[in-house]
Amino acid sequence: MEKAKNGNDVKQNKTIKILQFTDSHLGASTNETLLGLRTEQSLCDVLEKIAASETDIDLLVATGDISNDGSAESYDRFLSLVYRYLPNTKLAWLDGNHDDPAGMDAITLARPIEKHLIIDNWSIVFLSSRVAGEERGELPLSELDRLTSLLQKYPQHSTVIFLHHQPVPIGCEWVDGYTVSNAKDFFKVLDQYPRVKVVAWGHVHQDFRQVRNDVVLLATPSTCIQFKPNCENFTVDRLMPGYRLFELHNDGHWTTEVRRISHRDYPINFVSSGY
Ligand SMILES: [Fe+2]
Repeated sequence: MEKAKNGNDVKQNKTIKILQFTDSHLGASTNETLLGLRTEQSLCDVLEKIAASETDIDLLVATGDISNDGSAESYDRFLSLVYRYLPNTKLAWLDGNHDDPAGMDAITLARPIEKHLIIDNWSIVFLSSRVAGEERGELPLSELDRLTSLLQKYPQHSTVIFLHHQPVPIGCEWVDGYTVSNAKDFFKVLDQYPRVKVVAWGHVHQDFRQVRNDVVLLATPSTCIQFKPNCENFTVDRLMPGYRLFELHNDGHWTTEVRRISHRDYPINFVSSGY
């Protein structure tokens, strides 16, 4: 169901503030861990930092792997935490390879935005790149067609696209096997619409930036464990969990920055060869 109309705001001459947070990997149990880290704890730490340090947030975007097990309980717990720390803040979400649309559909709390949102002169598009039962991503024709329709419908709007999987290799061989496998088709669409400014994703649990044909491509750190950049094999990083801030201006200019929580002594297995 198209949810854009629910969230349309009319605001003039104000900077739009979007916070992307991603890959929280919550479980059905509150004690779900990833490499020893209790994922609910680190999500709460990130939400606490956002609540303490960010004001006037227009939109929160959770870019997939919200759950580690796809359970309805994990999505309800995710929502209750977000709504507790950041009440009355608009939330959008999309699915990752660890998510289960059935679990996301079974939530009992207020439903996040899922498809698209217009805020002032900006069009914000959420794409699903999940392939059932696989770690790689793919953008089905239906999603590429929906993206094309939105770009045609809002030709004067600057556009930000969020999805879960990376559409380009990020320099970590072990996770670059799980990119968007039809990224060529995705970029073929983007190349026709110069108002696309940003593509941002999660999945790779690290900060990454690249520019392709004037479109800035960004990965965002996870709210739980971090993966070390430029590693051939699975390697856990010691950087802290974090999120990404976007500030979008009416004239099409924008800025972004990754922000992380202050150091915590999480009991993480840093020498693990996988997760
Ligand atoms: Fe993922």
